[in-house]
Amino acid sequence: MKDNIYLGLVHAPICNKKGEVVTTSVTNLDIHDIARSCRTFGVSKYFIVTPLQAQHELVNRILGHWEEDKAAAYNPDRQDALAIARLVNSVEEGVKKITEIEGIEPIIAVTGANFKENSGVESDLLNKARLDKRPVFLLFGTGWGLHAHVLDQAHFSLEPIFGASEDGYNHLSVRSAVAIYLDRLARASETKK
Ligand SMILES: C[S@@+](CC[C@H](N)C(=O)[O-])C[C@H]1O[C@@H](n2cnc3c(N)ncnc32)[C@H](O)[C@@H]1O
Repeated sequence: MKDNIYLGLVHAPICNKKGEVVTTSVTNLDIHDIARSCRTFGVSKYFIVTPLQAQHELVNRILGHWEEDKAAAYNPDRQDALAIARLVNSVEEGVKKITEIEGIEPIIAVTGANFKENSGVESDLLNKARLDKRPVFLLFGTGWGLHAHVLDQAHFSLEPIFGASEDGYNHLSVRSAVAIYLDRLARASETKK
C-alpha cells in the first residue's frame, strides 16, 4: 500500500457486555489471521496490545515458534506474516514505537460497528494522513469493542462497515473487519495520486 498504515489489535482497555472496562485474552487465531491480512495489504507493523505479562509469554511463544528453523521451513508464509507482529503493553506504547520509527506521531484511527458519528471513510482518512504527512495507527477492538478511553484519544473514527442485512446487523469478527478495511484502504490508496 502506498500509505503508511500501522495496525493495533487492542485487548485493553476494552468494553465487556455491560460497557465496563476489561482486558480480554489474546487468541491464536487473531494473531495469525490478522498478521496474514496485514502482510497481504502492506501494513507496516501489526501491534498486539495487552498489558498482561502471562499473555506476553503466550504471544512470544507463538511468534517465537514460527521463527524456529524447522517451523519456518514447514510454513514459510506464516513465518513471513508473523515477522511484522509486535507486542506492546498499551496503545500509548504503540504510538511511542511508531513515533520512534517515523519521527512523527501517527494519526490514531478507531473502528467500531456502532459508532453514532464518524469522521469519514477510508479515502478521507488517507487524505488527512497525506495532508498531515503522518502515518496512521488503525485500532481494532476485541470483546465488546474499544473502550471510551481509547475512542477519546482518537483523531479519526472510520465509518462502520454497514453490510447489507435487512435488519442492520453488522457485527463482524475482528478478523473479517480487518480484512475488509485493509482492502478498502488499499483500493483508496491506489486511486489517490
Ligand atoms: C467487538 S470485537 C468482537 C470480537 C469478537 N470476539 C470476534 O470474534 O472477533 C470486533 C471488532 O472488529 C471491528 N468491527 C466489527 N464489526 C465492525 C463493523 N461492522 N464496522 C466496523 N468495525 C467493526 C471493531 O474494531 C470491533 O471492535
